[in-house]
Amino acid sequence: MSRELMLENIKRAHRVIEEKKDMIKNGKMRQHYHFMPQTGWLNDPNGLIYYKGKYHYFYQLNPYYGQWDYMHWGHAVSEDLIHWQYLPLALAPSEKYDDHIRGGCFSGSAVECDGKLFLMYTGTSNHGSGYEQTQCIASSEDGIQFTKYEGNPVILPPDGVPADLFRDPKVWKHDGIYYMVCGASRNKRGQALLYRSQDMYHWEFFNVLAESRGEWGYMWECPDFYQLEDKYVLMFSPMGESDRKAVYLTGDFDYDTGKFDWQVSGEIDWGMDYYAPQSFLAPDGRRIAVGWANEWPWMPFWKDWGPTYTEGWCGFFNLPREVRLMPDSTLQFIPVKELEILRKDSRTMDSFTVDSNAVELTAGDGVSFELKMKIDMEQTDADQLELNLRCGEDGKKIICTLDFRKALLQVDRNNSDGWSEGISKSVLFLKEKKQLDIHIFSDQSSIEIFTDHYQNNHANNVFSDNIHNQIWIRALGGKAIIREYESYGLRECFR
Ligand code: FRU
Repeated sequence: MSRELMLENIKRAHRVIEEKKDMIKNGKMRQHYHFMPQTGWLNDPNGLIYYKGKYHYFYQLNPYYGQWDYMHWGHAVSEDLIHWQYLPLALAPSEKYDDHIRGGCFSGSAVECDGKLFLMYTGTSNHGSGYEQTQCIASSEDGIQFTKYEGNPVILPPDGVPADLFRDPKVWKHDGIYYMVCGASRNKRGQALLYRSQDMYHWEFFNVLAESRGEWGYMWECPDFYQLEDKYVLMFSPMGESDRKAVYLTGDFDYDTGKFDWQVSGEIDWGMDYYAPQSFLAPDGRRIAVGWANEWPWMPFWKDWGPTYTEGWCGFFNLPREVRLMPDSTLQFIPVKELEILRKDSRTMDSFTVDSNAVELTAGDGVSFELKMKIDMEQTDADQLELNLRCGEDGKKIICTLDFRKALLQVDRNNSDGWSEGISKSVLFLKEKKQLDIHIFSDQSSIEIFTDHYQNNHANNVFSDNIHNQIWIRALGGKAIIREYESYGLRECFR
């Protein structure tokens, strides 16, 4: 019974996708190589997994229009993490526990269980007395057609956790037992709750894996927990933490007690558009994280979601990033090496000097490009290095400033496209630094900037026109020496 109802809703959504997708495909703000939906609204990455020889992206989707509502799970597969094939939607609202226009099938994850693909997601409903969130299961033999479990929901909010603040299960298997970490709030403090199960259907509460003591916000969305070498990592997106939107904690974990003892914390990305990352394991053992490139209205930078909804779509993922552990237990987030297959028109320079006379750089068409360089900190005496991206004759630009005196990295989009606003900022740690690396990916509607060994990163959306395609560099208060300069155009893979 339940399967028929969901199938009907999926078919209804597909009729709309088929009707609109060719028109939306030609929208001028469509990305060239960042993953995005065919039609409608996308937010969190869900159920990321390598299963039966392919990478699977599932994603929060409202297929009908470019605004958040009525959550379905979209689905796409890839063999290289770059080229994606859209598949039928995996989940649609259909049951009393997940059918509501301002609810639906919320975020969750995937795990392989005896060859089958299991999804665990949050059903969000509202029967007149507020939103209710419960954890639910769906499974599939072929990884394409999913059936919701008749015994859903499998987990209800525990005592003390408000029914509307209990969501986003991330499941994994360890030593034959399934574990799940779920975002929650108790006494207005964020928590990651740990559950376990022998069979994926019957779950018991195990422990509070970690919680805010007031310093990490009132609710933790989209927690993710995994081992990285000899450490464990908890990533989550805290609500009520102002500029901090996607953070990680690293420490030690004990499967006997279910308690995580973290010692180090850090920011996955300081940009205005990076949220709700989820990770998965590639077959070669890499841990890869993917975030949603946007933000919610409750965040300090939020103005709106950008103009792409006028083209009938909204939302894309940030580039997949490999997570690596440093000796001091901080993390690096490195764009995956697969992105190199997009490169064309390479240009390299061993070294050059910049001063206060701005120099124009060439990278692809100036819209879709990759730029890499190192600043020789021993030879550089400038106070600041400024990179102006997506510049036009009309003076519009995105200004990326590395301020060596103030130890500040900032990306300013206040005069960028007539739409976007805000300045993202982070501390540049320069003590004893001989070289400072910069790596930039620009696409039609976003710029991701990675610096300092991929530990100081900024993802920001911008909606500049194609006439904004110049790149300029200059140094202020002295000269800067640039080494190992590389630039590339990047091929389009979404038309
Ligand atoms: C995070 C989030 C999740 C929720 C989903 C709803 O961006 O708010 O907590 O499950 O989006 O679409």
